[in-house]
Amino acid sequence: MSKKAWGGRFTKSTNHLVEEYTASIGFDYKLAEEDIQGSIAHATMLATQGIITVEEMDLIIRGLKEIKKEIEEGQFEFSIALEDIHMNIEKRLIEKIGPVGGKLHTARSRNDQVALDMHLYLKKWVKQLGIRLAELIEGFIQKAEENIDIILPGYTHLQRAQPILFSHHLMAYVSMFLRDLERLQDSWKRIDLMPLGAGALAGTTFPIDRKQVADLLGFQGIYANSMDAVSDRDYIVEFLSHASLMMMHLSRLSEELILWSSQEFQFVELDDAFCTGSSIMPQKKNPDVAELVRGKTGRVYGHLISLLTTLKGLPLTYNKDMQEDKEGMFDTVQTLDGALALMKPMVETMKVNQEKMAKSVKEDFSNATDYADYLVTKGIPFRQAHEIVGKTVLYCIEQKKYLLDLTIEEYHAFSDQVEKDIYEKLQPEQVVNARSSYGGTAKESVFVQIEEAKTKLQDLQGFFS
Ligand code: ARG
Repeated sequence: MSKKAWGGRFTKSTNHLVEEYTASIGFDYKLAEEDIQGSIAHATMLATQGIITVEEMDLIIRGLKEIKKEIEEGQFEFSIALEDIHMNIEKRLIEKIGPVGGKLHTARSRNDQVALDMHLYLKKWVKQLGIRLAELIEGFIQKAEENIDIILPGYTHLQRAQPILFSHHLMAYVSMFLRDLERLQDSWKRIDLMPLGAGALAGTTFPIDRKQVADLLGFQGIYANSMDAVSDRDYIVEFLSHASLMMMHLSRLSEELILWSSQEFQFVELDDAFCTGSSIMPQKKNPDVAELVRGKTGRVYGHLISLLTTLKGLPLTYNKDMQEDKEGMFDTVQTLDGALALMKPMVETMKVNQEKMAKSVKEDFSNATDYADYLVTKGIPFRQAHEIVGKTVLYCIEQKKYLLDLTIEEYHAFSDQVEKDIYEKLQPEQVVNARSSYGGTAKESVFVQIEEAKTKLQDLQGFFS
């Protein structure tokens, strides 16, 4: 049983179950790198301010660097009795360099220390996830360019609605992902705030220099209020919320890939490397990755609601409940990173079944709106045109025909305004390329989207790299 750092006031040792129940070392060991980085900056500042000597600082920093190496090499023994990563490292430091190690915690509390570690951790990961997301967007833009002309049915209510370009569909996701990337960038202002120097909650009596610590660690801002600095977890809630949105987008995409790769659709074929088989049905090739991305979305939403709920009843400032902020955040980072990393190659390698898509477009009534628009150009009010087309479609269904199969006489049974050019107007290519309004599915409009997306992406990449 090791002696607690806070043991002075206690006459009994901690119940073993309490130790296990309250310890966070089982998960906050992930903050080791950030903890050491923060401690080195803190020690440097303490020496600059004359709070410790330069020799003491040197000893402390050397000790911390050795500990970092021990951890990286798997030589470090984490102990539950020492509760968390902060005390595990401090104890080892004192073991290594003697009582002078105990000076590191001057003008600092674990409350501002853990807040600092979490900020540093998220800074690292938000950049990393931003880079991953940008790569995914790049992959989508490239896939759109490669498949610029392919036509497939567009859906509303999962019913065939109007033909669209496959590239237009991909660019819809690019728009969604670019918003996600912008949100990540925007959240940076609130992640990039330095909490150290808040002490336990009220600040410190020592002549510290918070600006120096912020500069050493690369923070743009410093928390203005010590109580807020140790109580704030908004930036984590915000991250979980942005992560939830991203997962929601990835999940909708997954759902489309699952549908499209089904026998019923056959619009795409996912590469073997991204599918798995069945243990009993030899013919099967399952889109497991897409299914799991869709499935794992639930746990990320869960982490968001969980942290919001944890925080809602907490009085200022630090409460032990806040230790619950970590596992959900670590898991979210990992879940999102995995999903982003897999989605890119999965979409890049999937085969697009152009013939099947084209066939689907020909065997439906997704050009019906264009027939109505055609009648409108002949001076027929849209409502009336809608009625005429509806009746024509009903006739086609009875006759087992599509609009392009009708003779001009058959058209005339519903409207004498129809002329031979209708056959040209209702061709899928024509239908698609007629929608050349800004943001529409015409090839020229998709090119505009691609150019604009590239510019936006480049700007954002500058921030994240
Ligand atoms: N392990 C703690 C956490 O994760 C560190 C802060 C502990 N502070 C305290 N006063 N007990 O929140």
